[in-house]
Amino acid sequence: MLYNEKGCGGCHGARLEGMNNYPFLANRQKGFLMYKLKRFRSRKSDNQQQELMIPFAMHLSDEDIDNLTTYMYEYVDKKNTKSYDDSFNQEGDGGS
Ligand code: HEC
Repeated sequence: MLYNEKGCGGCHGARLEGMNNYPFLANRQKGFLMYKLKRFRSRKSDNQQQELMIPFAMHLSDEDIDNLTTYMYEYVDKKNTKSYDDSFNQEGDGGS
């Protein structure tokens, strides 16, 4: 996924959960995320902290931003699905 290819997870977390001064991104309004990314892309920031984002947004196309913001907005934490899978697997097939 583009999110991983572009290294976004290095700051915002592999599960979009954020860390320290890096905001979480999961399930936030697509319109807001697009607004922010386009702003960073045009090298606008409100403070020094936000300037960190500019090199990562600079080379994104409109399509990239569309794909990324959809991914963030619709993100489903894999951890939840995994616990379902585990309980299912415990039923097993009787072993061998
Ligand atoms: C070097 C660390 C770093 C990387 C890598 C990074 N970001 Fe950020 N990101 C930040 C910081 C810092 C902010 C601004 C936080 C603030 O406003 O105080 C930010 C803000 C944002 C925001 C706005 C969120 C908000 O609440 O204002 C979005 C959306 C975002 N990043 C998406 C991305 C995407 C998509 C990528 C990958 C292309 C990415 N970031 C890569 C550090 C990073």
